[in-house]
Amino acid sequence: MVTAQFDTYSIDHLRTVAGIKWSLFPDCIGAWVAEMDFGTAPPIQDALREVVDNGIFGYTRPSDVTRMQEAIVAWNEREYGWTLPAERIRPILDVITGLEAAIRHFSGEGTKVVVSTPAYMPFLTVPKMLGREIIEVPMLRSDESWSWDFDALDRAMQDAGKGALFILCNPSNPVGRVFRKDELEALAEVIDRNGGRVFSDEIHAPIVYPGGTHLPYASLSETTANHTVTSASASKAWNLAGLKCAQLVLTNEADAAKWKEMGFLVEHGAAPMGIIANAVAFSEGKPWLDEVLAYLDGNRRLLGDLLAEHLPEARYIMPEGTYLTWIDLSAYQLPGDLGVFFRENAKVAVVDGKACGGCGAGAIRFNIAMSRDVVSQAIEQMGKAVAAHPR
Ligand SMILES: Cc1ncc(COP(=O)(O)O)c(C=O)c1O
Repeated sequence: MVTAQFDTYSIDHLRTVAGIKWSLFPDCIGAWVAEMDFGTAPPIQDALREVVDNGIFGYTRPSDVTRMQEAIVAWNEREYGWTLPAERIRPILDVITGLEAAIRHFSGEGTKVVVSTPAYMPFLTVPKMLGREIIEVPMLRSDESWSWDFDALDRAMQDAGKGALFILCNPSNPVGRVFRKDELEALAEVIDRNGGRVFSDEIHAPIVYPGGTHLPYASLSETTANHTVTSASASKAWNLAGLKCAQLVLTNEADAAKWKEMGFLVEHGAAPMGIIANAVAFSEGKPWLDEVLAYLDGNRRLLGDLLAEHLPEARYIMPEGTYLTWIDLSAYQLPGDLGVFFRENAKVAVVDGKACGGCGAGAIRFNIAMSRDVVSQAIEQMGKAVAAHPR
């Protein structure tokens, strides 16, 4: 039974075996970084065990890259109706490396980078590290959903310069939107009108709840294929971030030709065991993922109930995709950095919304990919900490 399996990941067990999520703040519940507490799919473990048993850790075999590319081609066709030539799917170290490559090689020199906020935190730091200015464009929020402000995006793309990059995150971390076709098409118009480019981060694409459908942005039209560089990985849905493998998907001839000249430098970083794990995830990982999604679907609802009980003034919109949630606590007027506040006062590690952009003040990002007991304990502790804080 699904629930029973994922309910068994206790705090004691996680403190012993888990990665940074449970060790960076060793006295806190780890609800910050985007990892799940549920291990990975058994066929992936079997494939990795075979490599370990053989004891051979050489450079990547071309046949493993082909296997991964073919697994992704089949996944994209099955899940999204998107047909792609296998050789356009390139192995890279991770999605952040994909972003770096997109900025360095596929955006206009000296242009600014446009980021819709709240955003995944490195979108606001990596471009600066590469010498690029960032234009933040806050999303519009109603009681039910988040949407893009297309007029503001248009102005930002104009200001950013010809060939400037817009970072699209779909499904979006941290607000959990799974963007609809009409929204993506309206975005495409803005990008096209301004001669812009898109880095489409689709790392969370397999994590979509019933009611939503992931649409790969580059698959929408010739226009989007031409102005987009897509990056994806099995690392979030199957919990493989430490194995260091993602993909860069090139959907126009000029990018593919350029990649032939310089892509080796980037592809060399992809780890052989990560390539194998990605191949197995996309070809054999669906049954396990379906169970995880059913469990997470329960958790996103449970979070609503827990907040109503312990933090009744919180504003929360259930995510349509991803296991990251956005909780607006501004009504409580909590002091300082909310990551620090909850670590110190509730022993729960979350991400302060300000790290996701200026519009994130007063909010937090909270990861629900934990056993239900642990989610409940975390919110209960946070509720007590807030109640103890004088307003
Ligand atoms: C939207 C998004 N993009 C990229 C990353 C980082 O991926 P990688 O470890 O492959 O660089 C994450 C990790 O949480 C993420 O949520």
